[in-house]
Amino acid sequence: MPYEFLLVDVTDRIATVTINRPDKLNALNARVLEELDEVFTEFATDRLVGAVIVTGAGRAFVAGADIAEIAANDAAGLERLSARGQAVFTRIERLPKPVIAAVNGFALGGGCELALACHLRVASEHAKFGLPEVKLGLIPGYGGTQRLPRLVGKGRALQLILTGDQVDANEAHRIGLVNALATATTLHDVARSIALQAVKNGPVALARAIAAVNEGFDQPADEAMGIEARHFGALGGTKDMAEGTSAFLAKRAPQFTGE
Ligand code: COA
Repeated sequence: MPYEFLLVDVTDRIATVTINRPDKLNALNARVLEELDEVFTEFATDRLVGAVIVTGAGRAFVAGADIAEIAANDAAGLERLSARGQAVFTRIERLPKPVIAAVNGFALGGGCELALACHLRVASEHAKFGLPEVKLGLIPGYGGTQRLPRLVGKGRALQLILTGDQVDANEAHRIGLVNALATATTLHDVARSIALQAVKNGPVALARAIAAVNEGFDQPADEAMGIEARHFGALGGTKDMAEGTSAFLAKRAPQFTGE
């Protein structure tokens, strides 16, 4: 399906989604959000897609929600906008396949929140992360006040949220906001090699692992263990589990089918 603001390529079961609105530094207007929602809805059931890389065209990853659109809203409109952005990013976070942000430049506001919703983040030396909303008289509204503290701790998150400061790739890596560093030239290869490593694994296990982490994360430990046990148990009787374990015992590479 043709998109106005997304470029989508699928090679070797890895989909690359490039947000392509470079004249506005890939700012997330309502249309971009809708297109992200559509493409991730399709990825969930597309058997040709085993993992997803999200990146931006030009010099930005995403420089935030579209400030021109935000400015036109009253209180009810802002709340609706926040709920919509949150829902789209939660769809990304819950995709039952690994999602990697390849952060090539500015990841500010909604762009930082988009990266946070992805399962992993790789950053080039041009990446800059920040939640500058307070500089606009706003706060992060697409999950940033919740996902950032869960990822880097409350103190570090509040520092970014209250100052609106940007951090570079090295600092983002130091505080655990970024999983891996790359250069502008190697960014896509690094993201791709992580995705390729992941897609070799059993698709049902990947889906269950993502669900176990997401569902258990905010639960008390006992309940979270129960959630893990249920997902672990659900793998019993799957062809992927039979294949993975028998391939190991036969000292051969597994051929997973995702069943
Ligand atoms: N929403 C809408 N438009 C945006 C945008 C956003 N979040 N971020 C950048 N743009 C637009 C600019 O308005 C400009 O458009 P124009 O050429 O039609 O005037 C274009 O993208 C290029 O941005 P510009 O500001 O000229 O680039 P720069 O290199 O001088 O600065 C930034 C880059 C990222 C520092 C700056 O664009 C910025 O601060 N953006 C907003 C970041 C933000 O507050 N995000 C949170 C939003 S809630």
